[in-house]
Amino acid sequence: MSPEALVLALRESPAALALLSPLGQRAALPFGIPQQSAEAAGCERRATIGQITDGDGVPLPLPSLHSHFSHLDPREALLYTPQHGLLGLRQRWKEHILASLGGDTPMSLPVVTAGITHAISICGELFTAPDRPLLLPLPYWDNYDTIVTMRTGAPILTFPFFDQDPLAPGTARFNTAALREALASLAGPATLLLNFPANPTGYSPMADEVPGIVQAIADHPHPLAVICDDAYETLFFEPGMYGRSIFGALARAADPRRHVICKVDGATKELVFFGGRVGFLTFSVTGAAGEALAEKAAALIRSTISSGPAPAQSAVLAALQSPTLAAEQAAVVEVLAARYRALKAALDDHRVPYYPFNSGCFCLLPLHDGLDAEVVRKRLIAEQSVGVIQIPQVNALRVAFCGIEARDIPDLVERLARVIG
Ligand SMILES: Cc1ncc(COP(=O)(O)O)c(C=O)c1O
Repeated sequence: MSPEALVLALRESPAALALLSPLGQRAALPFGIPQQSAEAAGCERRATIGQITDGDGVPLPLPSLHSHFSHLDPREALLYTPQHGLLGLRQRWKEHILASLGGDTPMSLPVVTAGITHAISICGELFTAPDRPLLLPLPYWDNYDTIVTMRTGAPILTFPFFDQDPLAPGTARFNTAALREALASLAGPATLLLNFPANPTGYSPMADEVPGIVQAIADHPHPLAVICDDAYETLFFEPGMYGRSIFGALARAADPRRHVICKVDGATKELVFFGGRVGFLTFSVTGAAGEALAEKAAALIRSTISSGPAPAQSAVLAALQSPTLAAEQAAVVEVLAARYRALKAALDDHRVPYYPFNSGCFCLLPLHDGLDAEVVRKRLIAEQSVGVIQIPQVNALRVAFCGIEARDIPDLVERLARVIG
């Protein structure tokens, strides 16, 4: 569709029209080679796209390569995927989201991206610009600087993640009052990113925190895109937690005049497929307007990676159709829950202070005044053979317990305590 036709299609979502950055406004898929090839799919002689086939749409596979994808039909493994991603995968992922968030959640068909970073990057390009800031709770995953600010020049504005001193045991929660205050400081279109389970804090809201977060966003009077970064969805370890993405509640409360809610998620952590690079971008916008936003995302895909990897998308689709997948995923969640419990117990035993955490893959350890996170990180490698990540935003260390066996966690914490205790 032309940019003008996309504007017409977006009439049902005035928020999207108000939020699109200059690049977002320009983004459109031309009537190019993939579209012309699709139109000619039923022809007897298809001399359209530059794929090397047998003349009947089947690639001429090199056995040395295809043997590594032997469970996949050569057409699934070796041919281009559409810019939006494989249609069957998009439909199946939508069912997957609706099953966890409720069938009444308004949403577009997901667009398949090359991992979740890519989905966030597309949101950044669609909605942020030097005069359209990105609002984040602090601390945040530092890659948002690179994904959004480096590419689009959007400034990052922050508010404190926790509502009280996070080191006062067991009392701090997500800082909804600070979110309200930060939103109140915005005068024009902006983007808010909420990542639960969070990287680096490992915190997700309890069930009774979510209505307040949703209301704060619903009350905001200016156009607001909200990105729900659900990379670690499913990894919730405590009773009483909300225990699912807040996309559903936000999408149901969204006012099409002011809100576009975006869900970014994927196979990376949920299906333990880090190298597969299969992510998804879904909008709270339905009908022709939702299709127009999806097409803008596909145009950004066409202009960067052209199309996503076929073998990985086909493998994820096959996994989603497997009757044993849910049990396999539950088993992984249980392994991580055991690591989580072992870590909490060991930190308590050694009286190592930590920020509140209840989910995901990480916990965050604050350092005493006078200890510098980078210096401590280096000492841990040199003196204790322990690798962690420094978080200079709050002078703390991030521990990825997802990569340590439960039986080794007491030893890990003992080594940490020798340096930071
Ligand atoms: C919060 C968060 N979002 C997104 C990602 C990126 O996921 P992907 O590897 O699929 O790009 C990560 C990875 O570390 C993450 O921590």
